[in-house]
Amino acid sequence: MTDLLSSHRLGALTLPNRVVMAPMTRVRAAARGLATPSMATYYAQRATAGLIVSEGVQPSLVGQSNPGTPGLYTDEQTASWRQVTDAVHANGGRIFAQLMHGGRVSHPDTTGLQPVGPSAVAAAADVFTPKGPQPAPVPRALETAEVSEHARAYADAAARAVAAGFDGVELHGANGYLISQFLSSNANLRTDGYGGSVAGRIRFAVEAVTATVAAVGAERTAIRLSPGGTFGGVEEERVPELYAALLSELAPLGLAYLHLEATSAEDVLIGLRRAWPGTLIMNPAAPMSPKQTDRAQADHWLGLGADLISFGRAFIANPDLVERLRIGAPIAPVEEVGYYQGGDDGYLTYPAYRAA
Ligand SMILES: Cc1cc2nc3c(=O)[nH]c(=O)nc-3n(C[C@H](O)[C@H](O)[C@H](O)COP(=O)(O)O)c2cc1C
Repeated sequence: MTDLLSSHRLGALTLPNRVVMAPMTRVRAAARGLATPSMATYYAQRATAGLIVSEGVQPSLVGQSNPGTPGLYTDEQTASWRQVTDAVHANGGRIFAQLMHGGRVSHPDTTGLQPVGPSAVAAAADVFTPKGPQPAPVPRALETAEVSEHARAYADAAARAVAAGFDGVELHGANGYLISQFLSSNANLRTDGYGGSVAGRIRFAVEAVTATVAAVGAERTAIRLSPGGTFGGVEEERVPELYAALLSELAPLGLAYLHLEATSAEDVLIGLRRAWPGTLIMNPAAPMSPKQTDRAQADHWLGLGADLISFGRAFIANPDLVERLRIGAPIAPVEEVGYYQGGDDGYLTYPAYRAA
């Protein structure tokens, strides 16, 4: 079986191991969506990962989902990321930026703008705002002529990411955010070419990825998907058919990787593995699942044909996760309270094993 600690070629990159740090929003950005020295330290502490995927980064102001998240749509934001990518590279690591457009999972109290979505349907969920969690507002349905602007926002942010030193970008197509809203049957009630049929529902995802490939190249472009996932109140119909159609459009592009969450039955996910000719990152857990990814799940998915495994929560509490996996050291438990509280506590304070 594939060894979690063996190397893997990813486009122009050689990953020294198959342990990927999953994207995790930590809401520590400075005003105006700037990356900070603490963020540089946080990612640099985790640079032994085969690959780091950053927290979700908004490609536009209206695409910002949570207060305190960083952006990649202004020159100032782009320049601020350089300290992060330099620090990761100086420690021998590799980092992709996750481009996350929240779509309807956003709030005017956060952005000053009415959120947009495929249709004027509010998410049946609370969203974080500067005043605390509030019910998600009804978004404005995008006009047909506006949709491609939002697809292009991913490509523009990708160009900025590469200019800032990122090794590539992962489009966030999972967890009920904008791309996932287009794939959904209850968030997307459109009757134009971006809704209805399977071909219509996948069109926005394909346009966003295609535009990004044109901007930064396929070796630097990836996508994360959560087939059948219900996070953010989305529902999907005909999941195997929907994702088979999406992958058959994306496969010829030669992307860096596909990143899947285990949000469907194993046989559906195995079918998608077979349908994907390139590198597959598997995240063995669904969002909010009570059990975080561990070594046994990683080995299980490597046995089922995944190439790389992403670990989320374990990486928050174990900056040296790769070394702990290598020597069989205990994995420190994570304190949930530090996820989104801001500041360096619960962010930079988890020690490496030998120091613990
Ligand atoms: C604090 C926190 C923030 C997260 N933020 C994101 C995000 O920005 N983008 C994303 O795709 N997933 C996000 N996730 C989901 C993780 O990437 C991962 O799928 C999930 O934690 C399950 O994996 P695990 O069991 O290894 O933690 C987040 C998870 C946590 C715990």
